[in-house]
Amino acid sequence: MTQKILVLNGPNLNLLGQREPAVYGSATLADVQVLCQTACDLAGVALEFVQSNHEGDLIDALHRAGREQAAGELLGVVFNAGAYTHTSVALHDAIKGAQVTVVELHISNVHAREVFRHHSFLSPAAKAVMAGFGVQGYPLAIGGLLQMAG
Ligand code: DQA
Repeated sequence: MTQKILVLNGPNLNLLGQREPAVYGSATLADVQVLCQTACDLAGVALEFVQSNHEGDLIDALHRAGREQAAGELLGVVFNAGAYTHTSVALHDAIKGAQVTVVELHISNVHAREVFRHHSFLSPAAKAVMAGFGVQGYPLAIGGLLQMAG
């Protein structure tokens, strides 16, 4: 059975390319999907690519991912939770509750930005954290998940 990786994007990431390009670059979310698809094709794993602006949808996606990982169908999740990173106890609880492997990802180096971006509710529940590599962080994080999966 072909295993898969879920790349999950939270609020405002649908605006990539037009949103603060000095911070996030000019690549669109569709460009990011192509980067992720290429990385998954090379590794022989399937890709599910999801974006939602709604916290509850992200929680549902993490719960589903946990069930799929338990069933041996999913290797893990690359999760850019956007601003919910800095606000959401519910997403922290969802990662823990679903027992799903998550790589927390940020396009920008959040620690070099405003103080309110320095704290992450997700990091204590995540397996790994990646920030500051621009959109190339996505294929790098996929590579990291693959390596962890052995
Ligand atoms: C982000 C960083 C967050 O602080 C911000 O709210 C985002 C994007 C990033 O990818 O750098 O929406 O997660």
